[in-house]
Amino acid sequence: NTSTDSPEKRAAGIAAAGLVSSGMVVGLGTGSTVAYTIKELGRRVKEEGLDILGVVTSYQSEMLAIDAGIRLTTLSQDPELDIAIDGADQIDSNLYAIKGGGAAHTREKIVSVSAKRFVVVADDSKTSTQLDKPVPVEVLPFAKEPAVNRIRKLGGEPRLRSAVKKDGPVITDNGNFVLDVEFGVIKDPEALALQLSAVPGVVEHGIFSNVDELYIGKKDGSVKIISR
Ligand code: A5P
Repeated sequence: NTSTDSPEKRAAGIAAAGLVSSGMVVGLGTGSTVAYTIKELGRRVKEEGLDILGVVTSYQSEMLAIDAGIRLTTLSQDPELDIAIDGADQIDSNLYAIKGGGAAHTREKIVSVSAKRFVVVADDSKTSTQLDKPVPVEVLPFAKEPAVNRIRKLGGEPRLRSAVKKDGPVITDNGNFVLDVEFGVIKDPEALALQLSAVPGVVEHGIFSNVDELYIGKKDGSVKIISR
């Protein structure tokens, strides 16, 4: 949702756009915080002649980027990105993150691991000492029930994500379902990530362990930077 202005998200999003310079191939994440980054990059393209190519992570970021006037490329043409910038749903002090609140985490992970530097932009409400939000897990519709059963055996309580303005489940940009899986406090994100990846039919889960830097926007417009 990009309709309500948020000074915190704006501060983080715009500050991270400052890491981008001409000649870069840039991964463009999804969500309301990185939307500020995309708009700022578009402004710099128009006003400062910034010369970049973007790789989008969703139809949402594709539409925003086209609207902003950012030229786009694909991972097939440019498989190595200079930087990727994206939001997160929760992020801990070791920079482990949960993503996928917008069901875009599969493409976000592929794009972010393809980048030399992965920067997360967030407001203060996303930071936490430990990860305890439900983990979004994209699954093939064909594999939903067996995947649900295996995830329960891992100690999770999966819930099929429903659409808001459509009857039935959310369908991702890749044509799949999303399970939001409650695990309580996640003590070992790396171990859980491996276990979820090993479930047949799981396309991708929302635990990210590749964040290099976190830009946290504050209400007063300042930005705190945490690096790995
Ligand atoms: C998209 O699926 C998510 O991974 C987003 O990156 C995440 O939900 C952050 O979005 P906001 O910046 O809108 O909170």
